[in-house]
Amino acid sequence: MTDLTATRWLVDPDHAYLNHGGFGALPVSVAEAAAAIRAEVEANPTDMLMRRWPALIDAVRDRVAGLLGTDPANLVFVPNATAGTATVLSSLHWEPGDEVVSTDHRYPAVASQLGVLLRYGVKVVEQHVPVDIGSVAEIVDRIMAGVTERTKLVVIDSIASPTGFLFPVAEIAAAARERGIAVLVDGAHAPGQIAVDIDALGVDFWVGNLHKWVCSPRGCAALAVAPKWRDVVRPLVASHGYSLGYHDAFDWTGTADPVPVLAIPAALDFWDSLGWDAVRRHQRELVTAGARRVAAAIGTEVAIADEFTAAMRLVRLPVDLRSEAEREAVAYRLITEHGVTAHITEHAGTTYVRMCGQLYNTAEHYDRLGEALTKVLA
Ligand SMILES: Cc1ncc(COP(=O)(O)O)c(C=O)c1O
Repeated sequence: MTDLTATRWLVDPDHAYLNHGGFGALPVSVAEAAAAIRAEVEANPTDMLMRRWPALIDAVRDRVAGLLGTDPANLVFVPNATAGTATVLSSLHWEPGDEVVSTDHRYPAVASQLGVLLRYGVKVVEQHVPVDIGSVAEIVDRIMAGVTERTKLVVIDSIASPTGFLFPVAEIAAAARERGIAVLVDGAHAPGQIAVDIDALGVDFWVGNLHKWVCSPRGCAALAVAPKWRDVVRPLVASHGYSLGYHDAFDWTGTADPVPVLAIPAALDFWDSLGWDAVRRHQRELVTAGARRVAAAIGTEVAIADEFTAAMRLVRLPVDLRSEAEREAVAYRLITEHGVTAHITEHAGTTYVRMCGQLYNTAEHYDRLGEALTKVLA
């Protein structure tokens, strides 16, 4: 059996890097493959971008579609999840009085994007979902309680940023579908971290980063759009292929770096060689045990039930840090004074530390975080 802890990464081995979910990180093999692709691109940029690009992007699309359980016809690439959700929201037709329902776990940039809709007279409803909620049915009920006759879209996280909460997307989507409401899934953290089957979810729009848990170089996300919306969703930036169809509109939006897309197969090869199930089990067990050690060290508790989490866990801090500036100050002291990186976050007025579990992490990293927090918060 492969030793998952023997994989090689670029992250500083002397640092306890517990924020994989923040920006991803590169395995050495993927970094090397990306460097080789970069050399190939630079050998003849015109040949790569004009002649070879269409076939190459199609081949990558097929592999990513396989990973995410969707028809390649539904799938395009965008630079990141932020661009993906903005693309969907800006493609839809909004009328005054339309309503959108999301939750208080949504990513801050998505909140900003929903804020833009206020300009069209759209009402944005944000449902509170407590981190200690007990069942899937209660989660669905909480979200659907925000729905009215005017609701046009439900925006739901797959795995939320401020909490790491793993939402029951299939059940929420089914409830929305019953009411004839479209669903946009912000799956920024989902590719790689959990098994994804987009077509089985039956959602209208789904966005997920490849530079987080698939560990391809930064600058690539997948956007999957259900067939009935393929003529509606168009990129934020119109370019040559804008009126030629869904793929053509997205496959070229001006000169961009092709390496993040072209290096995805190397990242998928890395995970395939290890086995996704074994990796996911390892990540979950590592971070679950680690979070318990952190909670014990700082005298609090792990915040979310195991069934609603994957490779990102939340532990309550013994103090509340009200402002973003205070939370960042603590996070920065962890980095500079204690050699540990973790996300200090807030949900519904309570402050938490969010930690991740990746193959390069060890039990000692979580112990270092617990000890460092004890000192910084003293
Ligand atoms: C839930 C969620 N959505 C969207 C994003 C935005 O991702 P990106 O910065 O790659 O656009 C993030 C980033 O962490 C996220 O956690």
